[in-house]
Amino acid sequence: MTQQTAESPARKQRAQLKVRTLRTDRWWLAPALTFAGLTFFLIYGFWAIFDKSYFVEPYIAPFSSPCLTTACPEGARLFGWAPIGDWFALPPGLIILGLPAGFRFTCYYYRKSYYRSFWLSPPACAVGEPHKKYTGETRLPLVIQNVHRYFFYGAILIGAILSYDAILALIHKPAGLGTWILLINAALIVLYTLSCHSCRHITAGRLNHFSKHPLRYRAWTFVSKLNAKHMQLAWASLFSVMIADFYVRMVAKGVITFPFA
Ligand code: FES
Repeated sequence: MTQQTAESPARKQRAQLKVRTLRTDRWWLAPALTFAGLTFFLIYGFWAIFDKSYFVEPYIAPFSSPCLTTACPEGARLFGWAPIGDWFALPPGLIILGLPAGFRFTCYYYRKSYYRSFWLSPPACAVGEPHKKYTGETRLPLVIQNVHRYFFYGAILIGAILSYDAILALIHKPAGLGTWILLINAALIVLYTLSCHSCRHITAGRLNHFSKHPLRYRAWTFVSKLNAKHMQLAWASLFSVMIADFYVRMVAKGVITFPFA
């Protein structure tokens, strides 16, 4: 019996199909929905970053938090602190945008989803792609995606700040609908951050003996459970941050005024 090796011609060639795919299910639905969801998020984010109604006591819109410039209203500043001057009147959200945006952009799940839905590389399993060459993430610019683990530390900071904003709202307006919207959003953002593959690796990724590190093993077990829901948490937190942000801006503009806002 002849054995095929990795070098044998049979393994080098892909099946020569004359059709793009043999799949008969609605394989296009997931990339189409992903494309719609991410495009909507990008359009909303662009509007929110430049919108000026980001603060109404005691709520601050998540897209503009932390507010670090001297242009921020007194109550919106993190610990009353404004370490950055009013540089060219840049919106506060634009100054901190790099951390949460970089974290999501380099996230393993989002990478898969936008490679499929925007770049069609490939659009779905067993569906031909329009590109002739495939080099994965082995060279520039995509090799830069490896910085994801560093964005994770920044995302922890952002999650902590959004939790602090929500707790401040809870202290000053426990019955406010906005308070509960901010709390749910902060919880989802923190859970999404903790479910990160880099977080799982940091907790116990390089350990050879779990038995010698019981605390790290417990942390790893917890993070692993969250990690199994990473996709769901990615979408839930994406929508919760938009809803929370939009709600605060509507209250700040006076569009939402009922007593428990
Ligand atoms: Fe998705 Fe790290 S892998 S946030």
